[in-house]
Amino acid sequence: MRICCIGAGYVGGPTMTMFARKCPDLMVDVVDINADRISAWNSDKLPVFEPGLDEIVREVRGKNLFFSTDIDAAIDAADIVFISVNTPTKTYGYGAGSAADISYVESCARRIAEVSKSGKIVVEKSTMPVRTADAIKSILKSSGLGFQVLSNPEFLAEGTAMKDLENPDRVLIGGDEDTPEGRGAIEALASIYARWVPREKILKTNLWSSELSKLTANAFLAQRISSINAISALCEATGADVDEVACAVGSDSRIGSKFLRSSVGYGGSCFQKDLLNLVYLCEHFNLPEVAKYWRGVIEINAYQKRRFAETIVNSLFRNIRGKRIAIFGFAFKENTNDTRESPAIDVCRDFLNEHAHLAFYDPKVSSLQICRDLGISMGDKRVEFCRTPYDAADKAHAIVLLTQWEEFKNLDYKKIKGAMLNPAWIFDGRNCLDHRLLLELGFSLRGIGKGNIA
Ligand code: UDX
Ligand code: UDX
Repeated sequence: MRICCIGAGYVGGPTMTMFARKCPDLMVDVVDINADRISAWNSDKLPVFEPGLDEIVREVRGKNLFFSTDIDAAIDAADIVFISVNTPTKTYGYGAGSAADISYVESCARRIAEVSKSGKIVVEKSTMPVRTADAIKSILKSSGLGFQVLSNPEFLAEGTAMKDLENPDRVLIGGDEDTPEGRGAIEALASIYARWVPREKILKTNLWSSELSKLTANAFLAQRISSINAISALCEATGADVDEVACAVGSDSRIGSKFLRSSVGYGGSCFQKDLLNLVYLCEHFNLPEVAKYWRGVIEINAYQKRRFAETIVNSLFRNIRGKRIAIFGFAFKENTNDTRESPAIDVCRDFLNEHAHLAFYDPKVSSLQICRDLGISMGDKRVEFCRTPYDAADKAHAIVLLTQWEEFKNLDYKKIKGAMLNPAWIFDGRNCLDHRLLLELGFSLRGIGKGNIA
């Protein structure tokens, strides 16, 4: 059997690598319109950083995993075609700012209809608005060949993608359960996963349940973060400690402890986009109360980012003009080079608006990427890119920690304190440092939702 995946991004690349590794007899073609991305996948420096990914790519690339820009040939040769292209928030026309832009998905479906000489199974891997499969089906129908459309959303989280793919909580496959062809297609895909995923973890549903489950899962995860972040503001006002509250609340087995870590806000390519899409769908189906409920999750996240930046400016005597501020971490979370929707973008933009001088250190994000995200040129005098966190903190008024990279926990903060200006501030946007130790060393400190610290 031969499979093809259109879209060699953060989802398509790692997912297909795992397929190739687990099924040596399966030929896997990953194709993309972006030639630079494909040559990076074929080089020693992959375009995506994920722990464990390099090793597996090296093992299977050229054997049963191939990266190419020849989209038509790969589609034609495949029995199963995955669509894993991006579905960004629409920036124009109806639904601008909230609906998902499915134009890339549509053009993939048209390409598949055009170049296929036989019917295939077409799998939606990208997160789609509910009922997108209808659009794909009707485009494919025009070819007169027997296509089956499945929804198989990806639940991997960046930074742990390989682990999540190897040992998923569940695999969700939505399809046309009412026809023998539909059930056959669902089973064909299920039997690939069953090579390494226990059967009871492979859930089969109708198409719309599968599409909606992906949006709902991301909305629930984001909602938990906004819930604890809302409480963090109350903690700061009352003297409670949000980590203690999260621990006490999360110990209730009905609630659970995961995704209750208060922070400067969530980022990433999915939460914001999928929540906006959910809000749009609710409005489209005339459910304004439901739309308003989910919009609240987005509003709290924006509030949290703004609140953190304001706290910092206020602590530095409401004036950061010309002050050197060390930015520890720019990625939206640890163990990834991805900056999409990173809370660091909004926080740093607020600082630049206050005319601060920013000294960046992130172990994986390039200076070019940071400049692009902030909308500034590489030579901009207000920013500086440092090779070590020590360089960034040298003569700084404050350190602002925005990404929970492990290395930040183990720095020599005594040395750092000695090189900073006084009062030496640390703002821990992830509550991941040893606050007691930092206070002992003489730092001024603010975490998130920490009512009691100086
Ligand atoms: C994407 C979607 O954003 C997400 O909603 C979905 O759940 C999974 O797919 P991701 O892999 O992170 O996530 O996106 P990205 O890294 O942007 O990769 C998409 C790739 O598709 C890009 O490399 C782009 O060049 C490629 N692409 C896009 C095509 O090959 N053809 C197109 O027509 C459009
Ligand atoms: C998310 C979903 O977890 C995944 O299932 C889906 O397929 C894609 O979207 P991802 O965005 O890669 O994955 O990372 P995730 O670990 O969910 O983190 C998202 C954001 O929330 C990050 O900015 C992270 O720092 C933040 N976060 C996470 C918190 O602020 N607190 C938490 O307790 C957990």
